[in-house]
Amino acid sequence: MQQFKKQTISSIINAKGNRKLSMITAYDALFAKLFDGEVDFILVGDSLNMSFGGKNDTLSITMEQMIYHTKAVCNGAKNTFIICDMPFGTYTNEKIAFENAMAVYQQTSADAVKIEGGKNKAHIVKYLTDNSIAVVGHIGLMPQNFRVEGGYKIKGKDSQNIQSLIEDAKAIEAAGAFCIVLEGVKPDAAKLITEAVGVPIIGIGAGIDVDGQVLVWSDMLGFFDEFKPKFVRKYLNGAQLVKKSVQEYVRDVNDKTFPSDEEIY
Ligand code: KIV
Repeated sequence: MQQFKKQTISSIINAKGNRKLSMITAYDALFAKLFDGEVDFILVGDSLNMSFGGKNDTLSITMEQMIYHTKAVCNGAKNTFIICDMPFGTYTNEKIAFENAMAVYQQTSADAVKIEGGKNKAHIVKYLTDNSIAVVGHIGLMPQNFRVEGGYKIKGKDSQNIQSLIEDAKAIEAAGAFCIVLEGVKPDAAKLITEAVGVPIIGIGAGIDVDGQVLVWSDMLGFFDEFKPKFVRKYLNGAQLVKKSVQEYVRDVNDKTFPSDEEIY
């Protein structure tokens, strides 16, 4: 059996140009345990507010909730590098960002935090990394801008925006981010951004020419069946499997075929 070695910041950076990195989200110990040792890193994404909490966007999740879910993921995935998303409004200045990131480090065993923002958040990334917090950046389509931008808007459509995204990536790399999530960006732009920096770019809806991919677990395993974003590949029909199994259980209860003689004490 191949022994899985937990990634480190330097092994993640060294993967760039050598092999593709895979990241998946998880929100609880049960699924984190299933993903443990299979992926390079697990992201406790604030997308949990939507897929787990049933909300319309990510904005209302709190630091306490993120810490609760991150603890659960850390309990389930002991061999995987874990990243905790910093919620909306928890990194508005250096002091607030450090207090919240410090709470993540002190109350969980997460290896890094992720914050959304480019040039405008480089000072926060620098403050955190200068104070021994490992930071993953997140640029391009930033879900925490959902309300202010009036929806999820694809980026990298014109040369001015591409230039601005390259500057964003360079600014947060220079500030100390060891990895950057790039979301909802035209593939040609994603390629240029990936080539412009020395740290891995992990794409979601950003095409193939990036250093790795991230998907939300409930999308890729088909548990969210109302809507499938174009960039998602469904590896399982989770929702249908669960519904069918629950229907079978209800049928067995009604038929009085469950429990059987083997299923009693
Ligand atoms: O919150 C999340 O799950 C994310 C991914 C979409 C990258 O930030």
